[in-house]
Amino acid sequence: MIGSHAAEFYAKRGDQVIALDNLMRSRLFGSKHKSVEYNWDYLGTYSNITRVVGDVRIEADVRKALGLGVDAVLHAAGQPGVFFSLQNPQEDFSINAQGTLTVLECVRSICPKARFVYCSTNKVYGQGIDALPLKEESKRYTFQGTLRAIPETFPIDQVGHTPYGASKYVADLYVQEYAHAYGLQTGIFRMSCIYGTRQFGFEDQGWLAWFIICSQKNKPLTIYGNGKQVRDVLFVSDLISACDLFFKSQIAHGIYNMGGGPDNTLSLLELLEQIKQNGLTPSPYQLSEWRMFDQKVYVSDISKVKKELHWQPQVSVREGIKRLVNWVKENPSLFP
Ligand SMILES: NC(=O)c1ccc[n+]([C@@H]2O[C@H](COP(=O)([O-])OP(=O)(O)OC[C@H]3O[C@@H](n4cnc5c(N)ncnc54)[C@H](O)[C@@H]3O)[C@@H](O)[C@H]2O)c1
Repeated sequence: MIGSHAAEFYAKRGDQVIALDNLMRSRLFGSKHKSVEYNWDYLGTYSNITRVVGDVRIEADVRKALGLGVDAVLHAAGQPGVFFSLQNPQEDFSINAQGTLTVLECVRSICPKARFVYCSTNKVYGQGIDALPLKEESKRYTFQGTLRAIPETFPIDQVGHTPYGASKYVADLYVQEYAHAYGLQTGIFRMSCIYGTRQFGFEDQGWLAWFIICSQKNKPLTIYGNGKQVRDVLFVSDLISACDLFFKSQIAHGIYNMGGGPDNTLSLLELLEQIKQNGLTPSPYQLSEWRMFDQKVYVSDISKVKKELHWQPQVSVREGIKRLVNWVKENPSLFP
């Protein structure tokens, strides 16, 4: 999803874009239906996007995509599901950690001056977030006290992360290391919930799209916990703007928490209300036990990225949800 939006953004600007993907998203989530394949075909309509079906774990595939070198790399390929990682920790590691090292090493040998952005995750902070005191309101939890959001300096060590959080953090560390040891110009975006059109949400990943798709199909949902869990959410076009600003900047290396920030947060129960306001009947849902690895509240402190990249989110939660609902409504055949 993120990669396809970035590819479209640069293609529309007239750049030559190369997209590398092994098209495994549907398999990762046990879906028989098309997901990434739709976005792949969509990118095929641009004559200045070259698509390479390949695996980030295979050096020859990454070398083929990089060719004689590129100006900028957005590394968005990954295994993004927590549940998959718990069931398949070795494959999760190979894709997220080993795959990232392969990409870094190929960039170092072919085009070490390329600007590089890595899609990391808030899960690197792990369960340390859950130790923070919370206030329970009627539709959501909030942080108690003066803390409004999680900064990049939040402690990471000596807490549970899930294998996904661990494999992404290994990759995050290597992206840091390739800046320190080899001088690669790397930006690390530790992202909260990124959502947008052309997002094929599943129960395990892409919750906002998943809730909307289920509502469109009138398919029952399971809410783990009580639905008051909160995330800051960022529409994908705002993420791509931040990425572009990092590419254009002179910043040698930076780590940024990336999301909608405290002004763009949403609980699951609030999402159901917004779905209704956009003309869909929210799915019926059943409540189930909390999942131990779900942070109850995560909100990114985006003051660093705002300051250093002169960036801020442009798409409000209300507007972003409207765009995603409309896209799902306009494409019912994609969700059989
Ligand atoms: N969307 C979010 O809310 C969010 C939040 C935090 C972090 N992230 C990270 O951002 C990245 C992109 O997320 P997304 O939402 O676009 O997910 P996505 O699943 O749409 O994109 C990931 C792509 O990687 C491809 N892929 C998987 N394994 C591969 C491999 N071995 N080689 C090549 N391609 C492979 C998949 O087919 C898929 O198209 C992921 O790394 C994810 O961990 C996403």
